[in-house]
Amino acid sequence: MKLRASLLLIAALLAAPVMSSVAAETAPAAAPAAKAAPAKPDLAAGEAKYTAGCAACHGADGNSGSPANPKLSAQHPEYIAKQLAEFKSGKRANAVMQGMAAGLSDADMKNISTWLATQKAKPGFAKDKELVTLGERIWRGGIGDRNIAACAGCHSPNGAGIPAQYPRLSGQHADYTAAQLTAFRDGIRKNSVQMNQVAAKLNDREIRAVSDYVAGLR
Ligand code: HEC
Ligand code: HEC
Repeated sequence: MKLRASLLLIAALLAAPVMSSVAAETAPAAAPAAKAAPAKPDLAAGEAKYTAGCAACHGADGNSGSPANPKLSAQHPEYIAKQLAEFKSGKRANAVMQGMAAGLSDADMKNISTWLATQKAKPGFAKDKELVTLGERIWRGGIGDRNIAACAGCHSPNGAGIPAQYPRLSGQHADYTAAQLTAFRDGIRKNSVQMNQVAAKLNDREIRAVSDYVAGLR
């Protein structure tokens, strides 16, 4: 009897870890519901990808020093991700950036853009004293008699934009901003009907003026 009882006890003890390991194995099986939710952006992976492939042109912290390469720091992540997807698909045509975006997955785009949004923007400066008054007028009030909308209405008075809807422009290199406005006007950049309409009636002088004003916004 005594022997039998201790054998039963041993059997029970042996069974216990088996039982708990079964429980441990069934626990993750309940997890797929949580897994189905969209993955959280991975900031460290975004920073690593950006540093390896993008920093040479756009600056270590997204504050590019070259006027041809846009500053990306503090930009709304939805806007950056949209541009990367559209470079990749060819909807926004640019030989350099189409090559750069070709190798990025949706997750890469999300990680990089979320990391860039955490980087601090370095302020810029307006340089052209003669044009800046014209630039400010267009920014704040548009040009009524030619139906040109006020930039501030969408991009906000200080150029910070409105997250997810309108990109941040403040502090951007004037040369880059002017190039984009010209491309929107001439139908070369085709990924925003709104901006094609806004830019359609701007002349070169007005484009230079408003771009210079935008560089000094903060
Ligand atoms: C060889 C230089 C170079 C490299 C490397 C590069 N870019 Fe660019 N990038 C540019 C240029 C030039 C433009 C402006 C394109 C245009 O005129 O439409 C640009 C534009 C962009 C834009 C659009 C910004 C805006 O305000 O609309 C984004 C976003 C961007 N790059 C992200 C990246 C990312 C992410 C990488 C790395 C995977 C990268 N770039 C690598 C040169 C570069
Ligand atoms: C009706 C709203 C609206 C108005 C008004 C407007 N914008 Fe925009 N703008 C947009 C949207 C939306 C985008 C993003 C386009 C995209 O997704 O590619 C944009 C993008 C831009 C870009 C490209 C930014 C980049 O990083 O490449 C520039 C430059 C710009 N706007 C300048 C202006 C200026 C200057 C004015 C005034 C003359 C103006 N916008 C008025 C909605 C507007």
